[in-house]
Amino acid sequence: MRKNIVAGNWKMNKSLQEGVEFAKALEAALAGKTLKCEVIVGTPFIHLASVASATKLNVAAQNCADKASGAYTGEVSAAMVASTGAKYVILGHSERRSYYGETDAILKEKVLLALENGLSPIFCIGETKEEREKNVHFDVVKSQTVNALFELSAEDFSKIVIAYEPVWAIGTGLTATSAQAQEMHAFIRETIAEKYGKEVADNTSILYGGSANGGNAKELFSCPDIDGGLIGGASLDVEKFIPVIEGF
Ligand code: 13P
Repeated sequence: MRKNIVAGNWKMNKSLQEGVEFAKALEAALAGKTLKCEVIVGTPFIHLASVASATKLNVAAQNCADKASGAYTGEVSAAMVASTGAKYVILGHSERRSYYGETDAILKEKVLLALENGLSPIFCIGETKEEREKNVHFDVVKSQTVNALFELSAEDFSKIVIAYEPVWAIGTGLTATSAQAQEMHAFIRETIAEKYGKEVADNTSILYGGSANGGNAKELFSCPDIDGGLIGGASLDVEKFIPVIEGF
């Protein structure tokens, strides 16, 4: 069944101590609330084990290596991520694609390793401002999806969460309108249906990311094909994150 999900992506923020304190405060603030979505915190690697053991929150890494193990100084494997207690890994974020040269081919390897190690990828796709202006945004999002994911079996694909994050909306305060987001989410679901059938497509959670916050979450989440959010800035403060979670 398709799940509603609100996932925070801390990016490169918070010391270990700040991260653990934040996670405990978030858990305490959520206690006693009836949640209509699953809540995930996407922390830096070094926080994963501590947050997973200090709280019952669902934890996501923000990346993993495209190799299983070995002489890859500074890398962290999917198996290592899984061993912390993390259940998810954010892959293909536009910041990884643009600053660290992550291609569809590299991401395909990361997705496979994540799945082999029992992690659910939160797979990010999205077009730049220039691509939207040139009216190629549907093509871009389709090729990112097809190239990295469409060799998976239907069973493996069903473990993927998609996050549509238009690059022009990330950290800019410029949220996609709910109509723009819904249009793209419906297109993504249709693309999945063409490959894996309607049932798999209907069961895929597709999150929106890009300047989502407590002020716009309710409207975004009320769209039929938007199943939650991947939240950057507004996930860093408990007081800002709770209203997003309560957008459901
Ligand atoms: P902002 O919510 O800060 O725009 O970031 C979105 C994002 O990149 C989440 O992965």
